[in-house]
Amino acid sequence: MRPSPPPSIVVLTGAGISAESGLRTFRDAGGLWENHRVEDVATPEAFLRNPALVHAFYNQRRAQLREVRPNAAHLALARLEREWSGDFLLVTQNVDDLHDRAGSRALIHMHGELLKVRCAFCSAVHPWEGGTGPETRCPACARSGGIRPHIVWFGEMPLEMDRIGDALERCDLFVAVGTSGNVYPAAGFVGQVPAGARTLELNLEPSSVSSRFSEQREGPASVLVPALVEELLG
Ligand code: APR
Ligand code: ZN
Repeated sequence: MRPSPPPSIVVLTGAGISAESGLRTFRDAGGLWENHRVEDVATPEAFLRNPALVHAFYNQRRAQLREVRPNAAHLALARLEREWSGDFLLVTQNVDDLHDRAGSRALIHMHGELLKVRCAFCSAVHPWEGGTGPETRCPACARSGGIRPHIVWFGEMPLEMDRIGDALERCDLFVAVGTSGNVYPAAGFVGQVPAGARTLELNLEPSSVSSRFSEQREGPASVLVPALVEELLG
């Protein structure tokens, strides 16, 4: 009898995994959406209406990245990827680079990345250089005025959904860390895993979709994630 393959794991993270690194979440007290209206800084219409304001909002968030570091939760997920013998995929809603800096490589930024920009004319994606703004010329098509943050705004399609869907349909363990379950499609991922898959939510408090998980653990990600990784790696 052939031994069964090691379980396949998909982990979804939200702003809560970066909170203990010092990055604000969106919907907690003091969150980003308390100080900014989404429709002013995080929609395609906002960018058409006032590109300078949108660039300023993201430049301010980029500047914060220089002051923060990955925390124990980011590092534990990178370790799990390295040491896990089965399939592993980390999907983050976060646009910060803390998973990347922690060493995660099997990583999808489904809402884009703060440190990249995209050309609205030719869709080429480029690393963000300091001072990128509305007049920056696109290195690929040489047109200016079309460079925008490589961020998926409200009303736009998240990235790599096919690859994410394939991984969810095959996974044996789905873990959601630090996400409020308020934004789809990520909030619906727990419903895309096979019947019988283990589903685990790690959060400071119940989310909008907690009832759809087979297990919930309440506490800070920097404690819960390393403990889970220890359990999984044995
Ligand atoms: N440890 C674990 N969970 C935490 C911690 C922590 N230290 N701090 C906060 N949380 C949890 C909160 O309880 C909440 O459930 O993190 C979640 C943060 O929720 P949101 O602020 O809604 O962030 P997120 O779920 O990532 O938002 C999803 O919404 O605005 C859009 O594109 C944006 O990607 C974002 C998406
Ligand atoms: Zn271009």
